[in-house]
Parts: sequence; structure tokens; C-alpha cells
Amino acid sequence: MSSNPVHSLQSIEPQMSTSYLDFLSVVNMSTIVLCMGGLLAVLIARWLKRWQNPKCNGVLPPGSMGLPFIGETLGLIIPSASLDLPPFIKTRIKKYGPIFRTNLAGRPVIVTADREFNHFLLRQDGKLVDTWSLDTFAEVFDQTTQSSRKYTRNLTLNHFGIEALREKLLPKMENAINDTLRAWSSQDSTEVKSATITLTIDFAAKQLFSGDLDDAPLKLSDMFNNLVDGLMSFPLNIPGTAHHRCLKSHKQVRELMSEVLRKRRCSNEKREDLLHYLINDMDTEDFLSEGFIIQLMFGLLFVSSDSISTTCALAFKFLAEHPEVLDELTAEHEAILEKKENMDSPLTWSDYKSMTFTLQVINEILRLGNISPGLLRRALQDISINGYTIPEGWVILLASAALHLNSSEFEDPLTFNPGRWKDLNPSVVAKSFMPFGSGMKQCAGAEYSRVFLATFLHILVTKYRWELVNGGKIVRAPIIRFPNGFHYKITPKT
Ligand code: HEM
Ligand SMILES: *[C@@H]1O[C@H](CO)[C@@H](O)[C@H](O)[C@H]1NC(C)=O
Ligand SMILES: *[C@@H]1O[C@H](CO)[C@@H](O)[C@H](O)[C@H]1NC(C)=O
Ligand SMILES: *[C@@H]1O[C@H](CO)[C@@H](O)[C@H](O)[C@H]1NC(C)=O
Repeated sequence: MSSNPVHSLQSIEPQMSTSYLDFLSVVNMSTIVLCMGGLLAVLIARWLKRWQNPKCNGVLPPGSMGLPFIGETLGLIIPSASLDLPPFIKTRIKKYGPIFRTNLAGRPVIVTADREFNHFLLRQDGKLVDTWSLDTFAEVFDQTTQSSRKYTRNLTLNHFGIEALREKLLPKMENAINDTLRAWSSQDSTEVKSATITLTIDFAAKQLFSGDLDDAPLKLSDMFNNLVDGLMSFPLNIPGTAHHRCLKSHKQVRELMSEVLRKRRCSNEKREDLLHYLINDMDTEDFLSEGFIIQLMFGLLFVSSDSISTTCALAFKFLAEHPEVLDELTAEHEAILEKKENMDSPLTWSDYKSMTFTLQVINEILRLGNISPGLLRRALQDISINGYTIPEGWVILLASAALHLNSSEFEDPLTFNPGRWKDLNPSVVAKSFMPFGSGMKQCAGAEYSRVFLATFLHILVTKYRWELVNGGKIVRAPIIRFPNGFHYKITPKT
């Protein structure tokens, strides 16, 4: 059969035709795939090129945009076990200079560690730049409009500003800290970061909504401790993880705040706390919804407890490691006590104002701690700087930590040396030292934080000594955290 060419031809014809068709279709498919692939490759290449070289009416600052989508985010969040600037920022300043471009979490970002430019930008709030927060952090305050932002600032200053501190908060703080430190000194060891969260939450909650939560079944401070623990944890939302507890606590706190608000709105009791003012203003301010008030109270509790507790924990560490600084600090506070007729009489505003070295110690802790690694802004229009252009809409990270840790600004920058502040010119330092930001948006809780820390140190150094019993490790990612806690044994001085 196979000898018959026709037959054989006929017999194989269908075969051939299918295989030919197969062949054709494969060719077709591969041409299509190839063509599409080519097209895709061209598109990806163009898109990558755009990713690497974003549109700009001028010359972009030097830098690299990293991998598509994630940009250079991983570099920034890799933890480093040191107080120094995150290697991500340090190596790029070395390579590109103090102003460079990058991409974080899919957004083009300009990082600036240029003293004069940062100072200039902070005087342009609302004109060239506007405040901007990462989505996760925006939730802390949930402030979308200018008027709500201004309102929050005004409210915070009215209740936690200098007037309030001098007229009523200082003695209350002293009492609360006095009681708390006595309780700590009766324990074998105290994890000072979480214990200070409890102290600051309980204190702030009293100013916000009096004792409305005193007999709640769950403690607000426990919820905040869970919350802070989970903030920098791996975002795995299954029961048992720190992240899961964090989300659960966030929900619980909001439920509790909403309960407090609901109860207060139904009651006729008049209390002189922050909530009273908020409820009063609900009639006149459009944005003051229940949701806004809940978020605002949550935000105030959160910012006040996390930042102050980190600073306090660092104070324990630095003072324990620098006995000569501790001696000088103790001398300043003993002198304040000796001047008083009665050693037990409360601290006055002028006592606080006389704590010169104490405020230098606090500055030094804030300089090294860099609780807030930088300030975030968004360009409202193209901004020219040193021949470069920052395109409208880009995020700007003012890396204040880079200035705090720059050896041209602060000699031997990684050394804890509060004495350096004696020789520093305040008007020069104003541009390179801004732990609370600067200008119109400066932290509304700056003076509250200073008074709290100074009062804390006053009682701590005059009445107690302390030693590390466990933990003490620092990690920056880029927010500073204490992975094993700071466990101190606190004993009364005799
Ligand atoms: C060591 C403690 C603290 C540090 C290092 C700190 C730092 C900061 C920083 C860097 C900013 C942003 C400034 C900017 O974007 O230009 C800020 C804003 C703010 N902080 Fe603090 N803060 C601390 C404690 C507090 C406390 C205790 C409160 C409340 C009682 C508070 C309330 C606020 C408010 C309301 C804003 C927003 C201000 C505005 O947008 O006008 N902070 N803080
Ligand atoms: C700021 O607070 C004061 C005192 O409560 C109030 O009189 C003033 O109207 C407030 N200003 C703004 C802009 O909210
Ligand atoms: C601090 O506590 C002690 C008791 O240990 C008490 O005698 C003193 O009056 C308290 N001081 C203040 C300012 O609360
Ligand atoms: C430190 O500041 C100097 C002068 O302002 C600047 O030239 C240098 O690049 C800065 N270094 C870092 C690491 O930020």
C-alpha cells in the first residue's frame, strides 16, 4: 500500500493536512505570541523607562526608582540595629547628595536632607507644599480637609498647650507620675516602654473624657499596648499574631470611644474635658461627625502615648549608660528641691522653666531617638531646587533624622552628649534640629511632651535609681522599636 504513491499520498493526505494545519496554527500561535510578547516587551520597556525616568518639566534630582510597584520600599524597611540613619538613606545621600529621588510603596518620592531647602519648604506649607501622610498613617487622624486639620490643631493647643500646662496640667502630671513610679519601684522589674504607654494613655484619657472609662471591663491602655506591639509586626492577620491583636485592638478602641461619645451625648452632666468641647462644636462645624470625633480621640491618645513612651524608655537607657550626665541632671533637680521651703510642695511653672540642663537632655534624646524619622509633604506645583525640578504631585520626605545625625551639624553625632547643647547657637540649630517639625504645622503636643518628660525626669532622678535586667535592644525599621523591651529594676533612693 505504501508503494502506491497516490494511495499513500491519499492516505497520508489527511494526516498531512492536519499536521500542516497544526503546523500552521502553531506557527500562527507562536507568531501571535511572539508579536504580542514583543508588543508587551516594548510596552514594559517603555513603562519601565517611564518608571525609571518619570515625566518632569526639567531635570529630576538624581536617584533610582527601584523595582516596579514596590520601588525601593524594601530598602527602607529593612531593620537596622543601630540609632544611626537607616542605611537606605545614608548610602543614597553619599551617592547622590542631600536631595535624591526614589519610589516608596509605588509612589515617586523626593528625599531631602538639605538644611536650607527643608527650612524653606516648611515655610511654604499650604503654598508650594501640603501635608501628606502614608495611607496607613493617615488613618491615625483621618483629616482630609484644611478646616478639620486647623480645628484639631487649635483644639490640641487649647487643651494641651502652654496655658493649659501652666494653669492645670503640670500638678496633675506630677501626681500621676509620682504614683506610677512608686508602683514601678515595688515590682521586680518594669518594662518601661509599655508601662509608660499605660501611664500616658491613662493620663491623656482623663483629659479627653474624664473618668468615663474607669469601670470599663477592658483597659484602654492594654488595647493600646497591643496596638503599638502590632504596628511594626508582619502583617499576617490570623489569630495569635501581633498584627491580628493590633487590628482587633484598633476596633475595640474605636468601639469604646463610640460608646463613651454615645453615653455622653445622652447625659446632662457637664464636664470640663475635651469631649465636652467637641460635642458643643458639633452644632457649628460641619466636619464634626461622630466618626470624626472617635478618630480624633483615638489619634490624640495614639500620638501622645507612643512618642512619649519611646522617649522615656530611651531616657532610662542613655542615663544608665552615662553616669556623668545622670549626676549633672540629678544635681539640677536636687537644687530645685533645696530651693523649696517644703520639699513636698508641687513643681511650679518657674521650676520647669529653670530646668536648663534637663531640656538639653531631652533635646539630645529626641535628636538621637528620631521618633519621627521625617516629615511628609506633597508638592502642590513644580518646585525648582539647585537646578532640579520636583514635579507637582510628588511626595517629599524631609529627612530630619539625616540632619540630626550629620557630623557637620552635630559633632560626633552618634554620641549621647547633652552638654553639646550648651555651645550650640539656637538660631543655627533651628534649621537642623526639628524633632517636632517646624513652622505652621509644628507638633501641637511639643510643649506637653517636654513638660511631661521634664516632670518625669525630675521625680525619677531625685527619688529612684534603676538598672537594666533584661532586653535593651534597639531596632530601627525606620521607626524605632525595642524588640525585647526595656526591662529595668527601679529602686527608691535611700
Ligand atoms: C516626643 C513626642 C512627640 C514627637 C517627637 C512629635 C512629633 C511630631 C511631628 C514630627 C509632627 C509633624 C509635624 C509636621 O508634619 O510638620 C507632629 C504633629 C502633631 N503632633 Fe506630635 N509629637 C509628639 C508628641 C505629641 C503629643 C503628646 C501630642 C498631643 C497631645 C501631639 C500632637 C500632634 C498633633 C495634633 C500634630 C499635628 C499638627 C498639625 O498638623 O498642625 N504630638 N508631631
Ligand atoms: C480656637 O480656639 C479658640 C478657643 O476655644 C476659639 O475661640 C477659636 O474660635 C478657635 N479657632 C479656630 C480657627 O477654630
Ligand atoms: C509623691 O508621693 C509621696 C509618697 O510616696 C508623697 O508623700 C508626695 O506628697 C507625692 N508628691 C506629689 C507631688 O504627688
Ligand atoms: C552633612 O551635611 C553636609 C553640609 O551640610 C553635607 O554636605 C553632607 O552631604 C551631609 N551628609 C549627610 C550624610 O547627610
